[in-house]
Amino acid sequence: MKRRIAILGSTGSIGTQALEVIKQHPELFETEVLTAGRNAELLVQQAVEFQPNVVVIGDEEKYDWVSRELSDHPIKVYAGREALAQVGAMSTVDMVLVALVGFAGLVPTFRALEAGKPVALANKETLVVAGDLVMNLAREKGVPLLPVDSEHSAIFQCLVGEADNKIEKLILTASGGPFRGKSVDFLRKVTRCQALNHPNWKMGDKITIDSASLMNKGFEAIEAKWLFDVAPEQIEIVVHPQSIVHSLVQFADGSLKAQMGLPDMKLPIQYAMGFPKRLVNDFPRFNFTDYPELSFEKADVSVFRNLSLAFEAMNQGGNIPCILNAANEVAVEAFLKSRIGFVEMSSVIEQTMEKVSFVKHPGLDDYLRTDEEARRVASEIVAK
Ligand SMILES: NC(=O)c1ccc[n+]([C@@H]2O[C@H](COP(=O)([O-])OP(=O)(O)OC[C@H]3O[C@@H](n4cnc5c(N)ncnc54)[C@H](OP(=O)(O)O)[C@@H]3O)[C@@H](O)[C@H]2O)c1
Repeated sequence: MKRRIAILGSTGSIGTQALEVIKQHPELFETEVLTAGRNAELLVQQAVEFQPNVVVIGDEEKYDWVSRELSDHPIKVYAGREALAQVGAMSTVDMVLVALVGFAGLVPTFRALEAGKPVALANKETLVVAGDLVMNLAREKGVPLLPVDSEHSAIFQCLVGEADNKIEKLILTASGGPFRGKSVDFLRKVTRCQALNHPNWKMGDKITIDSASLMNKGFEAIEAKWLFDVAPEQIEIVVHPQSIVHSLVQFADGSLKAQMGLPDMKLPIQYAMGFPKRLVNDFPRFNFTDYPELSFEKADVSVFRNLSLAFEAMNQGGNIPCILNAANEVAVEAFLKSRIGFVEMSSVIEQTMEKVSFVKHPGLDDYLRTDEEARRVASEIVAK
């Protein structure tokens, strides 16, 4: 039986790579749903090639155009946020890959889990914002939540066969991004173009900026806390510029297990989609002679303040990580539009975290309200 996959965010970096994985394994996977935010042209192109049952275009103004373009195909077309939230729950879907970026991933992930669908989760913001609710729901429904983020996939792979063994520490590796080793003064002057130039990974704009500011690593720490049920003090960040060791687990006996490979997101995507099987592929293989040295260093939190803000949010808990995420989304967008500088992003986030009201035990509605309030507050700070 082929696994029928819904790819939410098929036009993005993760989404397009997931389609490459499906193309390599037509005997195993079938495309059931494809969705895009605004990129109607690519969505139509993908739909014609992969012939899903359903496509959703987030931007409702593009519905007529997409419908017209696909009118010769047996493909249902929907538009808008509610359709996006619902498609993963369709009875014909076997697995949902959430490759949306930002807060937009939360409700569709929630709905897919409510419907008892296994979720392959690339969208880390979902766990940053509401990791408690999402993990509880997955447990309650007895459905797997499979990490796609390379670091969490690495940890997940290290934990296979270790169910009864205690984790002492999780070590998340970070490439350090394009500004590794730079000073705050240097960061004050960096441009959008420099920040988008990641040394090891080709990704969407938002995560690329998060990687340059190390907010991405902070998000990943929060994501790891929820996925693997560890305390914040059990999570360590180590800068590893080559991005070959994707992360490590240290067990109670001090032994370390690492997962390694070339930096290629197709591998964790394929691992999650094919789990528990490892699938044959022709991706390039690691060659030790190409990497005579693997190096490790401490992350400089005095320069990369976003990393300490994320740990602060994780320690405070409640709706604070949701505030952190919303403020970061506003700050990144403002930086990408050259409205604020690189270093100012941290100030926007810090001030928003101070201003938005604290909720200790939020439910889904509280998270939705917090996101809205934090975006408003952060936008006001940006506009000042
Ligand atoms: N890229 C990576 O290598 C990588 C690695 C690890 C984790 N992740 C995580 O995976 C997620 C996706 O990252 P990405 O780099 O693939 O992002 P991306 O390239 O920006 O793609 C995002 C996708 O989501 C869609 N989308 C964005 N906003 C939407 C909205 N409001 N409503 C509906 N659809 C929307 C986009 O549609 P349009 O194309 O129409 O805009 C696109 O299909 C992020 O959470 C990221 O942190 C990514």
